[in-house]
Amino acid sequence: HQVVNVDALTYAACLDNVAMVAGSPDYAFEQVDIRDRAALDAVFAKHQPDAVMHLAAESHVDRSIDGPADFIETNVTGTFNMLEAARTYWTAQGKPDSFRFHHISTDEVFGSLPNDPAIKFTEDTPYDPRSPYSASKASSDHLVRAWHETYGFPVVLTNCSNNYGPFHFPEKLIPV
Ligand SMILES: NC(=O)c1ccc[n+]([C@@H]2O[C@H](COP(=O)([O-])OP(=O)(O)OC[C@H]3O[C@@H](n4cnc5c(N)ncnc54)[C@H](O)[C@@H]3O)[C@@H](O)[C@H]2O)c1
Repeated sequence: HQVVNVDALTYAACLDNVAMVAGSPDYAFEQVDIRDRAALDAVFAKHQPDAVMHLAAESHVDRSIDGPADFIETNVTGTFNMLEAARTYWTAQGKPDSFRFHHISTDEVFGSLPNDPAIKFTEDTPYDPRSPYSASKASSDHLVRAWHETYGFPVVLTNCSNNYGPFHFPEKLIPV
């Protein structure tokens, strides 16, 4: 596969993490802010992707409590821009069935679990966000679902729990 990495390079980014692929002919990097719709349109026109994985977000709960504005702008308005840029491109391409827009969300949109391993989140769990971060991600999930229902836009929406591994940002739970 050829991969285009779109990232604004906020405090959370680290280009060293992709240094091992940076020279590959199958890899391209575009420093673009998803709040900038025109720049997103230019990326779609230039690279003509057959799928999008939308991970870009403000993601740290404590930061969302200290300063929620960036979370609304990137996670809500930025997701709206991603959906519209991708839908416009997909429509111009003749709405191919194989296209996918994968929105990466979080289990935090479902709120908190009681300390009982028998109780789990499922796809039927009601939304119950508890922080500016999770509320902004819940908002983005509703936009993604609406773009599917309204426009038939081919989306996949996933709500993973905490990930960890190499290059984990040090502010997250497990590194801390
Ligand atoms: N890490 C986890 O455990 C976890 C769990 C559940 C869901 N998620 C979701 O997965 C995604 C990635 O999480 P992460 O932990 O890698 O986040 P992170 O905060 O470590 O990295 C976010 C990336 O998005 C980029 N970004 C931020 N604002 C941007 C903007 N306006 N335009 C373009 N790029 C921007 C940053 O530069 C950074 O590279 C997020 O959508 C997050 O909500 C993560």
